[in-house]
Amino acid sequence: MSNKSQEDFWSENPCGRDGDFDLVAKQRYDMEPYLPREFENIKKDYNDYLEIGCGQGVDAISISKLLSKKSKYIAIDFSKESIEIAKKHLIQKKISENFAVEPYFQEGDAQALNFENEKFDFIYSMGVLHHTPDPQKCIDEIHRVLKTNGEALIFLYKKGSLKVEIAKFMRFIQKSLDKILKKDRFIYQILNKKKSPIFGTMFLECFGVPWFENFTEKEIYRMFRNFKKIDVKAYGYNFPKINKKNLTGENKFGYFHRIHLIK
Ligand SMILES: C[S@@+](CC[C@H](N)C(=O)[O-])C[C@H]1O[C@@H](n2cnc3c(N)ncnc32)[C@H](O)[C@@H]1O
Repeated sequence: MSNKSQEDFWSENPCGRDGDFDLVAKQRYDMEPYLPREFENIKKDYNDYLEIGCGQGVDAISISKLLSKKSKYIAIDFSKESIEIAKKHLIQKKISENFAVEPYFQEGDAQALNFENEKFDFIYSMGVLHHTPDPQKCIDEIHRVLKTNGEALIFLYKKGSLKVEIAKFMRFIQKSLDKILKKDRFIYQILNKKKSPIFGTMFLECFGVPWFENFTEKEIYRMFRNFKKIDVKAYGYNFPKINKKNLTGENKFGYFHRIHLIK
């Protein structure tokens, strides 16, 4: 699949629900309730922050509100549509809240970062690199643009977790049908026509997204071996939680690897 058709997919399907910032943020932090706490723990006074695959910009806006005045936060995404929505969300939030640091949203490709070597002190990427054809290339790019001793926080799909295995099984069924019928993503094309709100992110993961990778812990250590320090934890919840207070995100059945790195 070409870069162009991947870009088209993500522009037609910006990640997350439709709506204003508060609605999109509510859905996001209902699904991943531990993220606001993660953001609180990010060091606030670095100079240069980069987010890769910012989608509709909800995390970028939430993080940059917490940073010190001198910091710069750049958030990139493949999808033109997502970048446009992220900019609108920022304008909406600026009406009611003061921002010491405003995130700067721009189009960009995780596999070929348009930045000089050793530019950033901190890099964040949540749920993105496993949707690219070459995650290792993205990781090498992160390593290149991160300063020596800089930090990165990356979330990637964990092989063997319930959500990931269901999505893989559904993708297998679709692939088999595609082979027989000589179609491209047959189930996705049929169901997508209906555009029902029940077809949310999980529907896209099962049938829509062009690339879907997942990794064992051993594979994670191998892919990130050029970093000086690696800390990997299983994170996330396969089902929405009713009581979201005090959730750290750490969960041995979680569907993400939370990967904290020092270069
Ligand atoms: C599952 S969404 C995650 C968005 C956001 N990080 C979040 O957690 O809500 C994946 C995002 O990665 C972006 N993406 C996919 N491939 C990319 C690439 N090669 N470079 C930059 N962004 C990419 C998509 O456009 C999409 O916005």
